[in-house]
Amino acid sequence: MADEEEAPPDVHHYNSLEEVPWDIQNYWSQRERIFSKYDEGIWLTDDAWFGVTPEPVANKIAEHIAEGAPTGRSILIDAFAGAGGNAIAFAKSGKWKRVYAIEKNPAVLQCARHNAKIYGVDKQITFFEGDCFGILKNQLKELAPYSIIFGSPPWGGPGYRSDEVFNLHTMEPYSLETLYKEFSAFSEHIALYLPRTSDVKQLAKFVEADRKATVMHYCMEGHSKALCIYYGGFNVH
Ligand SMILES: C[S@@+](CC[C@H](N)C(=O)[O-])C[C@H]1O[C@@H](n2cnc3c(N)ncnc32)[C@H](O)[C@@H]1O
Repeated sequence: MADEEEAPPDVHHYNSLEEVPWDIQNYWSQRERIFSKYDEGIWLTDDAWFGVTPEPVANKIAEHIAEGAPTGRSILIDAFAGAGGNAIAFAKSGKWKRVYAIEKNPAVLQCARHNAKIYGVDKQITFFEGDCFGILKNQLKELAPYSIIFGSPPWGGPGYRSDEVFNLHTMEPYSLETLYKEFSAFSEHIALYLPRTSDVKQLAKFVEADRKATVMHYCMEGHSKALCIYYGGFNVH
């Protein structure tokens, strides 16, 4: 059973509030909205709580990508897989011949593998530990003609919570330019999960002249949680 595995160092399954560090208690109290199977033994590192895509949002994104993906694309690459929130939803959608999940932090990758097992989709996902930019260029380059890239990068840098408009040029450690340049060298079909206040003008800069892009907001309880920009001919609506 997945939940009987012993958690590696830095990885936790918190059972009660007393065990939870103060800065993630708020997230832990919403654990079943983040992972509906949390109580079956979901693993997270303390940092991963801040970045995980809540399951209802991840399911909706997976549905949109499955329905709106350009034809001929059968591989989904989750470049920043984290603890598996999105990768699990992509695998559950049943749309993809294969889901590839890349994560550079080994402890976080172990969470993703373990969590995928809890959801019964670990066999549909190939996990890679390492830097997504290098892995796309080296290990996965043959898959480029069949692939879509999804990326939920870290939203570090000034202003994600406080600024009215989030500056994607100063997003850390990867700016929108860096992400677009790296990913579009691999596939023109790119979906990025970004702060809800992302600067739409900056997003528009990368729309190819004859192509449309779609910005979709994902809401929970009447508030936008985040947005996805779909570049490269997705039919998302
Ligand atoms: C916002 S989190 C992703 C959360 C994920 N969507 C989920 O639902 O669990 C971003 C992740 O990207 C990872 N990361 C950062 N730079 C990376 C890189 N160059 N290659 C692969 N992973 C990277 C971080 O370690 C972090 O776990």
